[in-house]
Amino acid sequence: MSLTQSNYTQTSAALPNAMVIFGAGGDLAKRKLIPALLHLCNAGLLPDSFAVLGLDRLDLDDDSFRDLMGEHIRDHVGAAFDQAVWERLIGRLHYMQIDMLDGADYERLRGRLSEIDTQRETEGNYLFYMAIPPSLFPHVTSRLGETGLLQETENDWRRVVIEKPFGQDLESAVALNHELHDNLDERQIYRIDHYLGKETVQNIMVFRFANGFIEPLWNHHHIDHVQLTVAESVGVEHRGAYYEEAGALRDMIPNHLLVLLGFIAMEPPNSFESSALRDEVNKVLDAIEPLSPEDVLRHAVRGQYGEGDMPSGEKVKAYRSSPGVDLQSRTETFAALKLTIDNWRWAGVPFYLRTGKRLAAQCTEIAIQFKKAPTVIFKNTDVEQVDPNMLVLRIQPAEGIQMSLGAKVPGPTMGVGIVNMDFCYEDYFGNKPATGYETLIYDCMNGDATLYKHADTIEKGWEIVQSVMDVWAALPPRDFPNYAAGTWGPTAAGALLKNDGRLWRRIKIPNK
Ligand code: BG6
Repeated sequence: MSLTQSNYTQTSAALPNAMVIFGAGGDLAKRKLIPALLHLCNAGLLPDSFAVLGLDRLDLDDDSFRDLMGEHIRDHVGAAFDQAVWERLIGRLHYMQIDMLDGADYERLRGRLSEIDTQRETEGNYLFYMAIPPSLFPHVTSRLGETGLLQETENDWRRVVIEKPFGQDLESAVALNHELHDNLDERQIYRIDHYLGKETVQNIMVFRFANGFIEPLWNHHHIDHVQLTVAESVGVEHRGAYYEEAGALRDMIPNHLLVLLGFIAMEPPNSFESSALRDEVNKVLDAIEPLSPEDVLRHAVRGQYGEGDMPSGEKVKAYRSSPGVDLQSRTETFAALKLTIDNWRWAGVPFYLRTGKRLAAQCTEIAIQFKKAPTVIFKNTDVEQVDPNMLVLRIQPAEGIQMSLGAKVPGPTMGVGIVNMDFCYEDYFGNKPATGYETLIYDCMNGDATLYKHADTIEKGWEIVQSVMDVWAALPPRDFPNYAAGTWGPTAAGALLKNDGRLWRRIKIPNK
């Protein structure tokens, strides 16, 4: 696809295929994959010749798997839920209990897939989706390879979607790329980052490059600093075991937050083609100044939530009381970083990144603070200071763009107040519910890897955070839990900006 024409708005159904989900009993399938398939089904973008085969250790059959997927579907799809569409999709869901470590089970899998092929006419096209811990990726692809399930012919295709985290660090990501290449061609590998599938993330590019007045301001002459926030009010839910290995930094920063940073900071690409975009994002990642161990101590903050009261009034337990989490866990559920980009455009402009679980709001946004206007003109008036302009790109919820401007407060004296120009996508383009996975799954079914990550981008992401992981591993935290659930994270996160004479934006979610 090209970013100018999102496939999620296209009308032709994807190619026939069977989507095989490894780890189908997990959170990702329930929260994102099945809801995304439902949205695609609703939009008429799933082929008639389609089936899902869920694989997991759980002792389920087709019916109980369907029930399990149905349990929470309304919560994840919201108002867009349509019973008739759900019934269309649910009939295509199948399940097989599997021990992913047992080679014999892959023979059974081959047999089951061939039955599904006949029953659903999926033409031998298989999309293997790895919603499993990264340590299992090489093992599962080797077994699939040995069983011949990755072997393509002229008439069918075999593709593997690899979920993040892609490795645990730089070394393991490089090793994983090698291992995958033992059984797969690069063109069969789809490394997913669902932030690349979000309409509003793609919209950052359109906002920057389709509006002539923006680009001249988009540099260190006019921008003071940038704040990237991916805040979640949810906890780790049932993913304690995974999260204990990952933590907030690995889970979110080398992938999602760096995607946002790449799109905000990139130079205009020559086109919206995959390689042009990738090259520009990679140049930004290459220019990020490496953090020395001393920088990590000053410019990286970690936190873990204790019990607390959410803004909704709900009392929630500490991270350490979550299922699958060690009672003495030292895993961070909050991470913040200050990064700088050593290139012409961004010299001296800090990028502050923060992400965490059980924060005061569920929201992803990028706030760009411009430099203050000179105030000399107001010197003989009551105006003591003029606040700098801020541009906020809201990714979720209530996607939109907000610009704060100074305006005269009506009255006989001179007073400057802040007013907001606010635009919500929904008001103009309607509300199209999406998880971020729709476009990506659809693209994979059609063999289009534009919005998937290549090995080099993944490795650069790890390179950037490697020193933080090293220092944090060498110096285990002593003060965890250090923020209460329902707040904006540890005090040190505020200090990260205060030390530079700045403040995190106070986020208010519009009522949409
Ligand atoms: C996933 C992380 O990649 O992204 C989760 O593993 C996180 O921990 C999720 O909750 C956030 O995605 P979204 O689309 O809800 O912002």
